[in-house]
Parts: sequence; structure tokens; C-alpha cells
Amino acid sequence: MTTPLAPLKIGSLTIDFPVVLAALAGYSDLPYRLICRSLGASFATTEVMIDRFLLQEGKLRKHLLRSDPADHPVGGQIMGSDPQTMAQAAVILRDLGFDVIDLNFACPVRKVVSRHRGGYMMSQPEQTLDVIRVVREAVPGHPLMLKLRRSFALDDQRCEALWTIVRGAYDAGVDAICLHTRAVEQMYRGEADWKLLRAVRAAFPGRTLIGSGDVRTPADALRMIAETGVDGVSAARGAIGNPWFFRQVRELAAGLPVSAPSLAEQRAVMELHYALTIAQYGERKGTFQMRHFGISYGRVHPHPKQIRMAFVAVRNAAEWQAVLDAHYSSVVRPES
Ligand SMILES: Cc1cc2nc3c(=O)[nH]c(=O)nc-3n(C[C@H](O)[C@H](O)[C@H](O)COP(=O)(O)O)c2cc1C
Repeated sequence: MTTPLAPLKIGSLTIDFPVVLAALAGYSDLPYRLICRSLGASFATTEVMIDRFLLQEGKLRKHLLRSDPADHPVGGQIMGSDPQTMAQAAVILRDLGFDVIDLNFACPVRKVVSRHRGGYMMSQPEQTLDVIRVVREAVPGHPLMLKLRRSFALDDQRCEALWTIVRGAYDAGVDAICLHTRAVEQMYRGEADWKLLRAVRAAFPGRTLIGSGDVRTPADALRMIAETGVDGVSAARGAIGNPWFFRQVRELAAGLPVSAPSLAEQRAVMELHYALTIAQYGERKGTFQMRHFGISYGRVHPHPKQIRMAFVAVRNAAEWQAVLDAHYSSVVRPES
């Protein structure tokens, strides 16, 4: 059965397929964005960046803002609580060619929240709207979206701050909202509340709404669209270590059989990913970065436990290669 899906619109930008790679700190860096694109991701967003870091010249800024002509359309995500620095950071992203500016008011990490950034802003709807309005003015006409959570507190059933922010943001000219329907206090635990997605969709028809939360499989992505009416789906943990997610969701929507990657294909993608990562970070840091990717790639391997144990000890290119040789040749030893 085919599932006809409309392109995803974020302001003046049209994205051909509505299931996209989420912003993922520690994962959605340039190498992984390129890998996911090569397997069908139509849009990807950077890891979240602190606005002030973009205002300071230096290595960190250069590293954060690294892009590539093949990495488009791309969203640049920032977080902060001061309208002026957020606006300055947004201008920098726009001028560097980021196709969408994404404001993060959702990050639940304790260090972030305690510094009044990210998810903290879900408890401060008026301040959040101030930031949004000033950023909107600073980058007029440029695609602008937000990442929100359902509420700050877990026991907040009414989600009033969310409704205030959503209404004010759309009124201020924000082009799209990506809503993760867990509370900030919930971090990543428990279930996402897809009913709330449906309620926001119904209250703001014609505005772009992207859903996030509990999209573990390609089928979940299509189910989220069918059950809630969102315009787009942001694939997060479901796409970590499974960049084939994007090819598979396109196959599923087209009514085609879903193709699992062969071991040879997994190896080819991991080799390319490693090469891109080493080119960006150097061997030492790049190998460290690829260690956690290697572990997560194990989820599509027939023997995930063996893969986890093998990658955990990898310290350099030779050891990385040895794991691929041992576990990604066509003969697979049974899981012990
Ligand atoms: C390791 C990790 C890093 C994340 N980093 C970001 C981030 O930088 N920016 C952001 O907006 N959301 C970030 N998120 C949240 C995801 O984009 C997504 O909203 C959340 O994981 C819910 O979707 P899921 O249940 O399908 O994983 C992150 C989530 C995880 C697990």
C-alpha cells in the first residue's frame, strides 16, 4: 500500500520528503548528516549550539559551523535566553548559508537548564516569546523554526506555557514548530504524548508542525503522520546507528518492500562514515567519536552484543578496521 506524503514546507523552503533527521547532540554532526542524506534523509539539523559560542571567533566556532555543499537543506540549531545574542547567532547562521534557523527551547540536560537555556525556557513563555520576536526581526523572511517540549514540569497537565508559546510564535511569523511531547523533567523517559500533537495540529491548521518522540521505526514515522496529522516527522533515536531508516521510510511510503542493509552495505557505510569523521576530527578524536557510533550501528547487525563489546575497546584506525574485518565479513559467527 502506498502512503502519499506531501513535501514539508518551512517558510520559503520546500523539503521533498517529510521525514527528517532530528537535531542530535553527539550524533547529527556533518559526517552523520552526510551519511543520512546519502540514504535518503531530505533535511537534517546540526547538533544544538550555544548562541554565544557562535559570536566568538575561534576553533570551536569553526568546528560547530563546518558545512559542505552536499549538506543542504540544513538547519542550524541554537539555544540561549538573551534575545540579542540569539538574534546575532541567527544572523551568523543565515549569512553562512544555513537554510533554516532552529531555536531550541527543549534541551533537558541539567547543566543547560540550570544555566537558563534550552528546556528551561518552557517555564518562561514570555521571555521565550521575546527571544522569538527579536530573532524573527533579525532574519526577516528566512525560514525559522522552534524546538519545543510539551511542558517544563512532568505534572503539568494543562501545558499552558506550550500553548502560549505556540500561539505567540506562529503569530510572530515562525515558520514551523517541532514539538517533542515529553516534559523537560521527563528527559527521554516514558512515552511521548502523540495526542497533544493532534491537538496542536487541530488548533493551528495550515501552520507547519513537525512531530518528535517515540519514532523508533520507519512504520512509526508514517503512523505519526496518519494518527496526528503533523506535516513532518523528526527521526531521533530511531535513526541513531540506523541511517537506513530514511531509505526504509521512503520504501514503506512507496509501498515497496523494506530493504534491510546487508553486512557488506553496513560495512561500506561505516567505512565512509569513519573516513568522513577522521577527516573532520583527526584520528584520535575521530576514533573516539566513531566508537559510540560503532556501538549504535550494532543495532542493525545480527549480533548487537558482540558488536558493542568489540567497539567499546577501539582506540585507533587499525583497531576499528580489525572490528570490521572480524564482524562485517559475510560469515557471521553465532552470538555467544
Ligand atoms: C542523544 C540525544 C541528543 C539529542 N540532541 C538534541 C539536540 O541537539 N537538539 C534537539 O532539538 N533535540 C535533541 N534531542 C532530542 C531529539 O531530537 C528528539 O526530540 C527526542 O529524542 C525524542 O524523539 P525519540 O523519542 O524518537 O528519540 C536529542 C536526543 C538524544 C537522544
